[in-house]
Amino acid sequence: MLKLTNVYKTFNPGTITERKALIDINIELNEGDFVTVIGGNGAGKSTLLNLIAGVHEADSGTVLLDSTDITYQKEYRRSRYLGRVFQDPMMGTAANMGIEENLAMAFRRGKRRSLHWGITHEERLSYTEKLKMLDLGLETRMKAKVGLLSGGQRQALTLLMATLQKPRVLLLDEHTAALDPKTAKKVLELTEEIITRENLTTFMVTHNMKNAILYGNRLIMMYEGRIIFDISGEEKKTLEVADLLKKFETVNDSDAVNDRMILT
Ligand SMILES: Nc1ncnc2c1ncn2[C@@H]1O[C@H](COP(=O)(O)OP(=O)(O)OP(=O)(O)O)[C@@H](O)[C@H]1O
Ligand SMILES: [Mg+2]
Repeated sequence: MLKLTNVYKTFNPGTITERKALIDINIELNEGDFVTVIGGNGAGKSTLLNLIAGVHEADSGTVLLDSTDITYQKEYRRSRYLGRVFQDPMMGTAANMGIEENLAMAFRRGKRRSLHWGITHEERLSYTEKLKMLDLGLETRMKAKVGLLSGGQRQALTLLMATLQKPRVLLLDEHTAALDPKTAKKVLELTEEIITRENLTTFMVTHNMKNAILYGNRLIMMYEGRIIFDISGEEKKTLEVADLLKKFETVNDSDAVNDRMILT
């Protein structure tokens, strides 16, 4: 359903700061694929997600979604059918607005704004139900300003907002990296629960090799703008951290694996 063919992206071409961020990227995803993306600093993981989201345009190559060529489609148009959660808990929600208002905004994403901005009774009930599933007690704080929530609560809410209207593709860029280990685990479990329940096609960037193995049905490893390993199905199920480290060794670059990947 999502197909990237021979995609290249270079930042600041022809200058001293030129950086080839994506080199000949080819990926074809099936409906419901949950792909974890791993790689060292500057490997091109975020650029890949940004390119799918339309933040950056490819220099060459094509991006097809459901057989439609979206290579040059603007970001705001894609945002109607893409869900995104970033590393920073401060992004993705409006701090000065209540939990309920944030959810209502997410629910109205891409819809024509009507004169009636009021939140209906049914809507409120459905938000309460969804918040209950997070098991963070947020359903009793519907009017609370989101700025008052903890990082983990905020990421869980952002995740809910990103999936309130089923996205065609869910893009998660190290969305638990800024959380403490316990909270990160909880948000990851929630993530998997929502992805499975809604059968969401997902890219999840992580620096944690264990999580890259534990979650999803496919794993992509990136190095210096290229995909150097793409594994799925039964092969992925039997994968171990040692196998990933061995793969990184093949590129013979001590920067390919950074401390974050080892220490976590
Ligand atoms: N907007 C930009 N302008 C210029 N260079 C950029 C831009 N975005 C990314 N780059 C460069 O492209 C390369 C890939 O960056 P990217 O952010 O995709 O890496 P990453 O794999 O997400 O790394 P990290 O693990 O640090 O988040 C890096 O060398 C980066 O400096
Ligand atoms: Mg990144």
